[in-house]
Amino acid sequence: MNDWLRNVASQHQKKNLSRTYVATASDDPQAILGYYALAATSVETDGMPSVKLPRNVSAVLLARLAVDTQHTGQGLGEYLLMHALDTVLMTAGAIGVQCVIVDAVDDNAAAFYKKYGSEAFTIAPLRLFLPVATIKQA
Ligand SMILES: CC(C)(COP(=O)(O)OP(=O)(O)OC[C@H]1O[C@@H](n2cnc3c(N)ncnc32)[C@H](O)[C@@H]1OP(=O)(O)O)[C@@H](O)C(=O)NCCC(=O)NCCS
Repeated sequence: MNDWLRNVASQHQKKNLSRTYVATASDDPQAILGYYALAATSVETDGMPSVKLPRNVSAVLLARLAVDTQHTGQGLGEYLLMHALDTVLMTAGAIGVQCVIVDAVDDNAAAFYKKYGSEAFTIAPLRLFLPVATIKQA
């Protein structure tokens, strides 16, 4: 996660591949406490339960979300996720987005996203989706 922020985020920003949002300390704007990154994508709906959808739908990929290890357990992960979902809702209002997709790094990360309503694809347990319709209801 650190390497990605140092080496990839600015390249992605310049090439319009993703957008990264950082949370900094109020008394030290250089100190990054956490961040997330979003990218436009499309996703195959195989493995999404029930709703009748086309084979591919528009989505936003939550490409990264991390909190500095010294600042976990203080609500920052939740704050960043809610900020990311607000950004998705604004985008969805403008262009139409069916869901948010996240590829969790492990079961522990997946548990974090499931707490906020994300569900796993039946064919890929660490790939999670959260319909925009569900975000709107929250
Ligand atoms: C996962 C991560 C983002 C959580 O950030 P955090 O700031 O510690 O989380 P918060 O303090 O905002 O916790 C919010 C809620 O989520 C819960 N939570 C935190 N991590 C969790 C996990 N791994 N599984 C389930 N619930 C979790 C907290 O208990 C809290 O619930 P509560 O309000 O009912 O007590 C952070 O631990 C992290 O950066 N981990 C490494 C990178 C990573 O796994 N990122 C996920 C991308 S795949």
